Parts: sequence; C-alpha cells; structure tokens
Amino acid sequence: MTRVALAFSGGLDTTVCVPLLEEEWGYDEVVGVTVDVGQPEAEFAEAEETADALGLEHHVVDARAEFASMCLDSVRANATYQGYPLGTALARPVIAESILDVAKENDCDAVAHGCTGKGNDQLRFEAVWRASELDVVAPVRELGLTREWEIEYADEKELPVEGGNEGVWSIDTNLWSRSVEGGDLEHPGHVPGEEIYEWTRSPAGDTEEVELTFENGYPVAVDGEEMDPIGLIAHLNDVAGEYGVGRTDMMEDRMLGLKVRENYEHPAATTLLNAHETLESLVLTKEERDFKKLVDDEWSQKGYEGLVDAPLMSALEAFIEATQTRVTGTVTIRFEGGQARPVGRDSDHAVYDESFASFNTEDVGDITQADATGVAKYHGFQERLAAKVLAEAKETEALTDGAGAE
Ligand code: ARG
Repeated sequence: MTRVALAFSGGLDTTVCVPLLEEEWGYDEVVGVTVDVGQPEAEFAEAEETADALGLEHHVVDARAEFASMCLDSVRANATYQGYPLGTALARPVIAESILDVAKENDCDAVAHGCTGKGNDQLRFEAVWRASELDVVAPVRELGLTREWEIEYADEKELPVEGGNEGVWSIDTNLWSRSVEGGDLEHPGHVPGEEIYEWTRSPAGDTEEVELTFENGYPVAVDGEEMDPIGLIAHLNDVAGEYGVGRTDMMEDRMLGLKVRENYEHPAATTLLNAHETLESLVLTKEERDFKKLVDDEWSQKGYEGLVDAPLMSALEAFIEATQTRVTGTVTIRFEGGQARPVGRDSDHAVYDESFASFNTEDVGDITQADATGVAKYHGFQERLAAKVLAEAKETEALTDGAGAE
C-alpha cells in the first residue's frame, strides 16, 4: 500500500493531481492536506467540498500561529522583495512543514504539490521536502500540463471543479498578503480596475492619471506633450501636489552624526522617481537592477555629502549611462490619496515575454516545465547539507559527552 500526501486547495491544479497520482505514479492512496495560513473561509469550504466529492482523505492543519510569527520576524528584518512584503513566499515553508508532518504521521511514502514548472512555489516547497526521506512528486510540472488540458481532463473524468474560484486571475491569499496575477494583468501596460482588489478600498476623493514618457532615462513628456525640464517639474509639482503626493516626515542622520527631525515636500520628485524605477523594473535585468541599487545608493550618498564632482561620481554615472540607453518608454502614474502609484508600464525594450510568463500557455521554445525539476532538486542543496552536517556534529557531541561522563 503506497500513500502520497498532496498539498490540496481544491482548485483545478490540485484536483487533477489526485487521479493523476494514482494513474501515472501508481499510488494506492492520496491524502489531501490543506494548511491554514489565514486564507478566506471560502477556500476551506471549497477544499472540503472537493475532497468530499473526490472521496479524498482530507486533513486541515491550522498553521496560522507559526505563520504569524514568521510574518513578525520579517518585520524585524524590514523584509520586502522588490517592494513586495513576501506574503506568499514566507507562507510556503510553513505550509511545506505542516504537510510533511501530516505525511509522516499518516504513513505516506511521498509528498506532492500542484505547482507549475514556472513559478517560485515549487522551489520553496521542495527545498523543505527534499530534506526528508519521502519522494517528491510534481504532476503538473512533470507532465507539462496546461490549464486547457486540465479543464478537458477534469471534464472527461467528471472531476468536481467549479468555475468559481478559478476565474480570470490566479489569486493567493494569506494573513500577510493577497496576490493577484494572470489574465489581463499579464499585459504590463494594462491599468487594472478596482475589481482586482478586495482588502483595500481606493482612497476617497479624486484621482488623476498621467502618462510619463522617458527617453534614455530622462522624462521628456507628460501625457504625450513634450516639456522642457523646468516646465515638466513645475507642472508635476502642481498636479501631484494637489493629491498630497510627496510628503516626507523623517529622522535624518546628518553628516556630523546628529539626528534631526525634518519635513519635506517634493511632489514632482516622488512622481518621477517612482515612474523611472517602474520603467527600469521592466527593461533592466534582475542583475542590473540589483547592482544598480548599490550604485544608486553610492550616488545618493555622495549627493547628500555635496560631493557631486567626486571622481567616484563620474565612475558611477558611467554605469548609470550604460543602463539608461534602454530606459525609454511610458509609465502611467495614478495620483491618489497622497501617492503617485505606478499602474501601467510599456517599452520596446521590455525584458518580458507574456507567452513565457503566462501559466496558461504551452512550453516555449525548447524549454519545458519538466526542466524545472532539476532546478528544484538543486535549490536549497547547501542548506540541506548544512543541516545534515550540523545534526551529525550534534550526535557526535552527544556521544562524546556521554563517554566523558562515564
Ligand atoms: N509571485 C509571488 C511569489 O513568488 C506570489 C505568487 C502567488 N500566486 C498567485 N497565484 N497569485 O511570492
């Protein structure tokens, strides 16, 4: 009798995994595990109903306390990734551990997830699971499934999949964050409507959108109208200032070391800085962005010190120049409730391929989802090894301590 514990949400991906684990991998029994990290109630109801309809042994584990404490640890680390507070990311190891516990308590030989071969979650789950003795199975990735195929298969097998939750977007919600991706959001320039939001209400009062055009990293036009630098800055100070954009209330560390309480206003600056960084996020590679952050920090530091003619500045600017030749395109900024929020971006230099990023489409070129299996096996290799070495060292220590005490 072989058993596999499956990370189970009751959505399309994990539902088709149930018969596939039996048919394609030959498991006698599948155990569904849903881990509570603060999803909405409706998701548990969906998981429960689908599990019932499938006749699936189903476990629900409450991991909210572990996850909440992880979230607060992340606050101590001021943790964000490119501006995102890591809700989905930090939940994955917590979920993976809970599933592993259930798998072990219930005599499973393997653990499985329904992640595709395109995302981050496969790597996060497996980094935890591959430290165990259990086998790891990823049916969606291994078989290179597409949504269309899954829908057809579910239909054929008369699997209980509701259209409900599996709508236009792919949504991941937990205590720390709610993430929405896919559908029309796959066009970087598409300005989303209010309907994608559930936790936040758009700030009361007027809003206004402007489209900023950049050439080689310099802003040159607002709403298609070319402006000289003075005119452009003055214009944005007026427009953005109306919406309360660009206030800073801070403790500032002066060069001599004193901290001072300082207040500033800078509506155009905030608008242009946000828009420019948004465009860079579309056209620069991750390596360029990461390295440029260091360069930008140094540039800012020298700027603060008033040493704009420092030799270091010319060197930094040579790097900046090399990156800015591709920072040409447009950014839509919405002024609302004190913010200048980027809501769309477009460039001919975008390092972005919709067909590749999409979870709806087939494999692209000669890259298949299953290619990610190798990556997933390597991901976390050193961490697992380090944990093993540490455990062995502890064991040896315990043994020698025992010998010494005799
Ligand atoms: N991309 C984000 C991450 O890697 C979150 C993705 C969440 N999934 C979703 N279907 N919205 O952490």
